[in-house]
Formats: sequence, structure tokens, C-alpha cells
Amino acid sequence: MDVSAITQLGGKMKKRYPRTEKTQMNTSDSLKTLLNQLWTDYSQLNSQAFRIHQLLKGRGETILNDHVAFRTFESASVGMRKMGEIFVQQGYHEIGEYDFPEKKLNAVHYEHEDEAQPKIFISELRVNELSTHAQSQIQNLLAQIPSGFVSTTNWCVAGRPWTLNFKTYEELEKESDYAAWMAAFGFRANHFTVNGNALKTFSDLTSLNEFLKKENFQLNSNGGEIKGSREVFLEQSSTLANQVEIDFEDGKHAVPGCYYEFSYRYALPTGKIFHGFNAKSADKIFESTDRKSNQ
Ligand code: NI
Repeated sequence: MDVSAITQLGGKMKKRYPRTEKTQMNTSDSLKTLLNQLWTDYSQLNSQAFRIHQLLKGRGETILNDHVAFRTFESASVGMRKMGEIFVQQGYHEIGEYDFPEKKLNAVHYEHEDEAQPKIFISELRVNELSTHAQSQIQNLLAQIPSGFVSTTNWCVAGRPWTLNFKTYEELEKESDYAAWMAAFGFRANHFTVNGNALKTFSDLTSLNEFLKKENFQLNSNGGEIKGSREVFLEQSSTLANQVEIDFEDGKHAVPGCYYEFSYRYALPTGKIFHGFNAKSADKIFESTDRKSNQ
């Protein structure tokens, strides 16, 4: 049942590892260190996430992460599965594979045997589907990656191992918001996701969204504030990325940074909670960093 449900949603279920009954396994210190490093980097870049955390804690909530999402360029050196190796070494298994034709993306998701650990979602841009000009701009960035970069520990939080000028950013942005974000920010968490099911003071995603709007957070309303539905077993919403001042070769410019995401999952007909993703509704979530769609 799991398999057919996920196939219908546009994702391909690859392997399913038995989950252990013990959800409080000892997680290695190195995974804790990596997740802390990712959160520190992300919440410094995205002050909304930090403020929302404080607000939810103020209501007595304990915040669990549903998933941490990464972006990269499809390539032999730093492609999504290369990045995924970092998490496989930390006890994660590849579970689902996705295709986002409109956004020209592949994606994979990983789960840990310890259900309390966040899922890891990694997407990659199919560079060879862009214009030859954009392709050469991206190749130029990839060529600047120092040798041995991916053998350094936790390179998925190393930031941007290249320099670029603002003109390159703007040209990439016209063609692919994703490419521009990746060029500006490099390797780090693109978003963390609050596990809405684990919140006690909100009955659903709508009430959480209403609370956030009252607190003056702007939500991504492209295609409706809630992406997905009970019928596809997953609802998600997100803030719009805030502007961050970034160093370019020709000075500082403010560009959209990271966004914060919220998920609410439903049970499959088997009674098990759906842990996959839905390519159709996530398409619009990717636009949370898009200046063109959010004007
Ligand atoms: Ni996400």
C-alpha cells in the first residue's frame, strides 16, 4: 500500500527499511553536531526561523524537525547523492526519489532508523536543461570548488566555495530562481521544517498559519497558503524568504535567503503516517525564494 500510494503521488518508492520500535535510540554525537551546525548557520541567516522558534516555545511547544532540505547542482562532484553520502554515513537510508519537471530538478529523501531524527531532502538542478549561457556560468562556479572539498567533513554546511558577481546572479535568476539561490548561498540548509503533527496547541496547519500571520510573518501564498492536502497525505506551508545581504565580487546586495516550512502529515490507508513528499505541491514551495513569483 505504501508503494502504490507514493507512486500515485509522483514519487518513486525505492527501498523501505524496517523501522525500529525503539524511537529513542542513541544518536551518534557526530549527527547531533552536524544538525546543530546546520541549524546555527540556517537560523543566523534566517532570523524568522529563530523568532518563530521562540514564539512556539513561548506557547509551551517542543519543536521537532520534519525535514531539513538542501539544494545542489547535478554534477559528478557535488550532486545530490554525493551529498547524501554524508547522511548515509550518519545512519540514514535513501527512501524516495522525485522528479520536478517544471523546476528541472531531481530529488531524493533519506530517513534515519531513529524516527525522532529529521528526514533529509536533497534536490539537484539539472544544469544541462538550462541555456548554454547559464550552463557555462554554473560550470564556472563548480570549477572554483577546491580539490578535496567533498572529502572535508560536513561540506553540506560549508557555504559558498566560489565567488560570483551580481550580474551573474541576476542572469541566473531570470532563468532559474533555484540556480541563483544556489550560486549565492552554496552548501547549507535551504530550510528546516516544523513538524506540525508534534505541536500540541494547534489542531491543524491552518491554525498555525493564522497564528504566524497575526505575528506579522508573510507566508508564501502562491497556489494557496497550504500546498498539498489530506488526499495526498501531506500539507505544507512556508514563510517567504527574507532578504539577506550577501557579498558579491562587486559589493553587497540584498537577495532572498532561506524560508521556514511547516508540515502536517496524514495516515495512509494502512494507518501508517505518510513520510514521503509530493512533487506536485512541493513545486510551489520551491518558489518561496523567488522574487519574480512573490512580487
Ligand atoms: Ni521542504
